[in-house]
Amino acid sequence: MIGGFARRRLSRLLTGEAEIALVNRVPSVAELGEKLREVDELGIYLHIPFCDQMCSYCPYNRELYRAEVALEYATAVRREIDFYADAVGKRPITSLYIGGGTPTTMLHSGIENILDHLFATFDVQCDIHMESHPNDLCLANLRKIGSLGVRHLSIGVEALQDRHLEALGRPYTASEVRAAVDRAVSWGFECVNVDVMFALPHQTCQEIEETGHALMEMGVDQVAAYPLFSFPYTRMGGRQGGNGSRIPRVFRRRKMLRVLESIFYGAGFERTSVWAFTRKGNPKYCSVTVPLYLGLGASGGTYLKDIFYLNTFNVAEYIDALRKSEMAIALSLDLSERMQMAGWLYWRVYETRFSKADFEERFGTDFDSVYGRYMKPLASVGFLEDDGGEIVLSDNGTYWLHALEDLFSIEYVSRLWGTSRQTPWPEAVVL
Ligand SMILES: C[S@@+](CC[C@H](N)C(=O)[O-])C[C@H]1O[C@@H](n2cnc3c(N)ncnc32)[C@H](O)[C@@H]1O
Ligand code: SF4
Repeated sequence: MIGGFARRRLSRLLTGEAEIALVNRVPSVAELGEKLREVDELGIYLHIPFCDQMCSYCPYNRELYRAEVALEYATAVRREIDFYADAVGKRPITSLYIGGGTPTTMLHSGIENILDHLFATFDVQCDIHMESHPNDLCLANLRKIGSLGVRHLSIGVEALQDRHLEALGRPYTASEVRAAVDRAVSWGFECVNVDVMFALPHQTCQEIEETGHALMEMGVDQVAAYPLFSFPYTRMGGRQGGNGSRIPRVFRRRKMLRVLESIFYGAGFERTSVWAFTRKGNPKYCSVTVPLYLGLGASGGTYLKDIFYLNTFNVAEYIDALRKSEMAIALSLDLSERMQMAGWLYWRVYETRFSKADFEERFGTDFDSVYGRYMKPLASVGFLEDDGGEIVLSDNGTYWLHALEDLFSIEYVSRLWGTSRQTPWPEAVVL
């Protein structure tokens, strides 16, 4: 494992910063208006922080669902939309993602209200992508989901063996979750994605193989297969003290992912990100698809070129701030050009391919003059192909470069989300 010292050196090399600190400076609405003036199109991320259960491994911001809190939350999000109304104006919204938590908990307690207000306020020119829980996918709920304008649905399946579902504490059996996926697939969404986790404790390669084949037979359009990550601030992470010996480590993950890659490629799927495989020709399911976005709701994060900021994670504080007509922003980070470039590269590696012209258009600088010296050695060990205009990562390059990125992202997420979950309004978080 890379030590803190090496991590800091590498981070400094890529971002030019000795340390990255988010601070409790709240940008004014006028300042955000100025920044938005330079933006042609925007994505929106809406966070629904409620679940019917608290999974022990889950790093996301969530709390137990209560209908009366959900209704107050919907009112607060509508107020937050109002804050942005003038600054965003008629700029097209070209990506809309509802994540959580579990968005389907609010199907009958306010999500429609939020979306009606969002559509009435902004010029939304896109379909909706939304996450769902398998237990929420009865036919009546699927009808409701379709009527909201959701065309891309993701389902948190996690595993297809009862022993793993039980160990994870998921409240359904393998046959129940298969039936839920079948209903969603038959419903006629443009894209049905299922999330599964691999490298679970005591999981075998044969189980992974069975899962991969079963998913293909079920007719889903996309699979996002994540290795089980251990975040120290979660209940499971706290018990294990990090990625402990019970969880197969990085080489075992590679072996299991290779099993899935071969099944998915054989079934006519292609890789569309480090962990996602999509049927060729199908639009991919993903979170915000444009580089700049507004984050609504508790823990919603916003990125506008040279600033990133994060709302408070605490649902009661979020509701209270908006009731007092205040923004709910807790932490912000001003980004130098080098940090923006490093962030751009991080997400392009995640997507496994990118064009150098996009970098030049975004930053007005030639990609090779900034990163060319890193690409050549990576090409020579077979991690990527560089045809001069486009860079495409190989399967091995995708896995190992992302494993390197994870040394930063797991640590950064743990500090930022871990602190934000404990403290509603932190003074600062140093990554
Ligand atoms: C917001 S949840 C999905 C929707 C819904 N809340 C559910 O659980 O069915 C997002 C996904 O993140 C993945 N996930 C959560 N915790 C994880 C962890 N510790 N390691 C890897 N993936 C994880 C799971 O695949 C999960 O389905
Ligand atoms: S995995 Fe899904 S249901 Fe479980 S706590 Fe996380 S967001 Fe909620």
